[in-house]
Amino acid sequence: MKYRHLGKAGIQVSELSLGSWVTFHTQSGIGSVTAMMAAAYDAGVNFFDNAEGYAGGKSEEIMGAALKKLAWRRGSYLVSTKLYWGLNEGPNEQNTLNRKYLLESIDGSLGRLDLDYVDLLFCHRADPTTPIEETVWAMHNIIERGKALYWGTSEWEAREILEAIDVAERHHLHKPIVEQPVYNLFQRHRFGPAYEPVYKDHGYGSTTWSPLASGVLTGKYQAGIPDDSRGAVKGMEWIQDQLTDADRLARVAALEPLAKDMGASLAQFSLAWCLQNPHVSSVITGASRVEQIHENMKALQFVEQFTPDLIEEIDRIFA
Ligand SMILES: NC(=O)c1ccc[n+]([C@@H]2O[C@H](COP(=O)([O-])OP(=O)(O)OC[C@H]3O[C@@H](n4cnc5c(N)ncnc54)[C@H](OP(=O)(O)O)[C@@H]3O)[C@@H](O)[C@H]2O)c1
Repeated sequence: MKYRHLGKAGIQVSELSLGSWVTFHTQSGIGSVTAMMAAAYDAGVNFFDNAEGYAGGKSEEIMGAALKKLAWRRGSYLVSTKLYWGLNEGPNEQNTLNRKYLLESIDGSLGRLDLDYVDLLFCHRADPTTPIEETVWAMHNIIERGKALYWGTSEWEAREILEAIDVAERHHLHKPIVEQPVYNLFQRHRFGPAYEPVYKDHGYGSTTWSPLASGVLTGKYQAGIPDDSRGAVKGMEWIQDQLTDADRLARVAALEPLAKDMGASLAQFSLAWCLQNPHVSSVITGASRVEQIHENMKALQFVEQFTPDLIEEIDRIFA
């Protein structure tokens, strides 16, 4: 495993990390979750991503239970969670980054994770209805109270991130240091030109999500939706069109010979591609079983093989 600084922050994250969306609780129970986290940790993963909203809080609970069983030294790993969607109905508790929600919800997350603090706390989406000053101050206060060590943004527009940094700088508050954007061969917009000042000038880090576009980039959906895949998970029907889109599947098929030439599986090839981007600090992988972790962690051995010519060839397929 190799480690990259989270942008210009002092903390380092493994190039590949492990997240819990869809899988923890919904697809995998405590035994499987513990085995997957152990497989990742043994491969050098030091960052585990979670969110309040995943499986209605159950994903945090199961990760907390697994961490208890694994009994790793706290200094040897990082845990994140993300706030925004909320677990309760009500005007102040859903789709919001207001001060009351943030200060109360972090306690809920820490309780479920059974941790004293999370290493990274993300605002899961931007909330244009709450003044940015209010959110920045609340995140600063959460850090000052020792409940999170760093904070970041997820799927924020570049101008929103720049505004948050500016507010923090003006008031000498803890600044956000990391974005959590979608990033895979199909979806690259969060590293477009608007984000250059964020990554280049401000040294923001990134922990990127859905590197396999929910599994399409493994080639597993070429002949329909397998029964044991994300596409067949109850509640995930909304994603089926993306998984079976003919245009997407044709591009994946065109990628196959390139991966084969390298001796990589499509999953390994697609994960390794993400790490070509120097602004990516960690690629958050997802897995529903241990075998996938073993396969995905081997992606690291292919990263050096992406020559400029190959990258151009790939870009032509995804143009
Ligand atoms: N900030 C945000 O808004 C946001 C949004 C989404 C995700 N995330 C984070 O990013 C993490 C990763 O996202 P993701 O789960 O969507 O990642 P992904 O890599 O796009 O998809 C992972 C899924 O693909 C399948 N898969 C993985 N490796 C495979 C392999 N080698 N062979 C065959 N199938 C394989 C598995 O599903 P099946 O086996 O069930 O098919 C697995 O759960 C999440 O867990 C979460 O922590 C953040």
